[in-house]
Amino acid sequence: MNTTDLETIPLNRPHLSASELAYLAEAVRGGSTSGDGPFTRRAAALLREMTGACHVLLTTSCTHALEMSAILLDLRPGDEVIMPSFTFMSTANAYALRGAVPMFVDCRPDTLNLDEKLVEAAITERTRAIVVVHYAGVACAMEALCAIAGRHGLALIEDNAHGLGGSYRGRPLGSFGGMAAQSFHVTKNVQCGEGGALLLNDTGLIADAEIIREKGTDRSRFFRGQVDKYRWVGIGSSYLPSDVLAAQLTSQLESFDGIQLRRHAVWRRYHEGLADWAARHGVSRPTVPDGCAHPAHLYYLLLPDLRNRQGLIAHLAARGVQAAFHYQPLHSAPAGTRYGRVAEGGCPVTEQVADRLVRLPLYADLSEAGLTRVINAVRTYEMS
Ligand SMILES: Cc1ncc(COP(=O)(O)O)c(C=O)c1O
Repeated sequence: MNTTDLETIPLNRPHLSASELAYLAEAVRGGSTSGDGPFTRRAAALLREMTGACHVLLTTSCTHALEMSAILLDLRPGDEVIMPSFTFMSTANAYALRGAVPMFVDCRPDTLNLDEKLVEAAITERTRAIVVVHYAGVACAMEALCAIAGRHGLALIEDNAHGLGGSYRGRPLGSFGGMAAQSFHVTKNVQCGEGGALLLNDTGLIADAEIIREKGTDRSRFFRGQVDKYRWVGIGSSYLPSDVLAAQLTSQLESFDGIQLRRHAVWRRYHEGLADWAARHGVSRPTVPDGCAHPAHLYYLLLPDLRNRQGLIAHLAARGVQAAFHYQPLHSAPAGTRYGRVAEGGCPVTEQVADRLVRLPLYADLSEAGLTRVINAVRTYEMS
């Protein structure tokens, strides 16, 4: 068969879980399709169980959960928030929207996570918070980072967009920061198209978080019968997802173990199937430090340079395999230079890995034949 006859293997394809369509129909037929309906409560309870979070508020996206965290921090213009440059723009946008300055710190060359050794030097008298991103769901060095935040009285927030199901020394990701943000975007292990959650581990934040999520009103208290009318009591926005999306998410969360089993099998096949090829060609594979259990969110390779990274993506595309690069450095992005600052020493590791990284297709329904095709296609790439 000609390669042009082969169906393209996409980077990602959402899994349809067993009860998904039934739950969607139930939500629509039930009529309570606005926010905080029965499926929202079920999904939040499942997330509490999985992460150990004290309280879970479903949101319309991880971006919005991060925005809620920024409002909860009560940031003043000019306050600084430490974060990696190697992340999605939402991590920075959320705090820049409040007038705060993202302070970009470099990442570690092994896990691509915020380099904990560089964090303390980036703290100033204006620093209010540290935001960590568990890249690919592999934990940041949480012991060191929690100690730094504690020593300097800083809030710690986990952008856990990739990390549902991951853990650090046996403790679930999302349970370390006072707040953590989850994503249920279609590209995530469990998804509802667009969706997210704010996990609260600091119980003192729950009442304000409910107000922020309900357009700055005490409507949640009103629905619980705790006040006789609801009023505008603070700033906020409309961060509640429809219960229809929560129905889809509930079904996906109930299928989590099955989805994860398959994703881990794909991840391991890449890791084993490409080990010798990577070693021969100076290509790095993901590093998972001791004590970290990752949720098989991404499989990536670090090619020797940009030319070969682009070469491999084109080589795979010609063989019907969709591969992609990932984050571009935020500290040197147009908005990054306008709204943020970069820590002393810059972000040389971020610049390098952004040029060298390529992600391979990874989804629960990737067939054995498809996996073999991807591995063989990578292995036939000749370095230039
Ligand atoms: C680290 C990180 N944070 C936040 C987001 C934004 O997630 P969402 O699309 O749910 O807003 C993403 C998106 O993939 C991400 O990778």
